Parts: sequence; structure tokens; C-alpha cells
Amino acid sequence: MIELRELSMADAPALQRIYSGASLTYIERRPLGIDEAIGLLANTLACTRAEPADRWAFGITADDNLLGMVRLRCRTERHATLSYLLREDSWGRGYATQAVAGMLRHAFTTTGLTSISARHHPDNVASGRVLQKNAFIYRGTRDGWPLYGIHKPGRSAP
Ligand SMILES: CC(C)(COP(=O)(O)OP(=O)(O)OC[C@H]1O[C@@H](n2cnc3c(N)ncnc32)[C@H](O)[C@@H]1OP(=O)(O)O)[C@@H](O)C(=O)NCCC(=O)NCCS
Repeated sequence: MIELRELSMADAPALQRIYSGASLTYIERRPLGIDEAIGLLANTLACTRAEPADRWAFGITADDNLLGMVRLRCRTERHATLSYLLREDSWGRGYATQAVAGMLRHAFTTTGLTSISARHHPDNVASGRVLQKNAFIYRGTRDGWPLYGIHKPGRSAP
């Protein structure tokens, strides 16, 4: 069972550990140095605290350990893109699926967002499963990357 919580600058070492090893295979990032982890956190916190907010980010924790991050980035006032990342040693326990479910609840109850999309590397089957298990609908591919979308319950596609 995971929890989503706000991030803080004290999370930099844990974030550095999350952005390492096999977790980076499909997201086109290289391992983070500690200064880069601090920079990423500072930037993320600044964006999530902006008025109006155009980004939401939560840490994914289990037993008070920070194991990952789930984020939404606004593309328009009503639409955002979703991304998530988990430390390699916590995969395969349903944590990403739970984290995305929690983020969707947050997005569709406390923000003005009405639709969310996500994409994943074509070889990243686990990421596609996380989206499918959260009722995202497959919308085809762009540049070979599978694209998925979901609408706020009660809203149909425009
Ligand atoms: C993708 C990722 C978030 C999945 O996290 P996770 O907590 O292991 O995911 P879950 O346990 O919630 O679900 C994984 C699903 O994928 C399936 N899966 C895992 N590896 C698989 C593989 N190689 N082939 C097919 N299915 C696979 C699991 O069986 C599970 O599906 P099921 O419940 O139907 O059996 C994690 O691997 C990760 O952080 N990867 C690096 C970053 C990344 O790729 N992010 C996504 C891009 S935005």
C-alpha cells in the first residue's frame, strides 16, 4: 500500500536513488547527481507552488520511504500529461498502478483538469499496463510511442 505526499527539498538524496539504474531505461534520462536532484526538486516545487499551478507532483511512499514520483504537467487549462517513475527495487508490487489512481483522483476532484494523456516507450510494456489498469484508453501512436488518454468521469471526449 502506497501513499502520495508532497515533496520537499529534503527528498533530494531519495530522488537521486530513484533516478538511477533500470528506472531510466525508457525515459531518456541519465542518472542524477545530487546537485541535479536538488535542481530538479527546486524546479518541481517552484512549478507546483506557482499561481495558478500548472504542475502537480507527489512523492510515492511506502512505509515512509520515498520510492517514486508521479507528476502532471498542464498543456492547456483543462488538459495535462502524466508521468511516473519508481525505484527499480520497488517494481512489480502494484505501486505505480496505485499511484496513478491516486493522482487521477486528485486531478479530477481538486483541479480544473478534465482530461489527461500519457505515452510510453514502445518497449515499456509495464508502463502501458499501469495506464490500462487505470482505465486509460489507447489512442494510437505518435513517433512510434503508444498514446493513452482519460477523461474526467462524466465528461465525454470533446
Ligand atoms: C513502469 C513502472 C512505473 C511500473 O511500476 P510498477 O509499480 O512495477 O507497476 P505495477 O506493479 O503497478 O504494474 C505493472 C504491470 O506491468 C506488468 N509488467 C511488468 N513488467 C512487464 C513486462 N516486462 N512485460 C509485460 N508486462 C509487464 C505487471 O505484470 C503489471 O501488470 P498486471 O498487474 O496486469 O500483472 C516502473 O517499471 C518504472 O518506474 N519504470 C521506469 C520509469 C518509467 O518507465 N515510467 C513510465 C514512463 S512515464
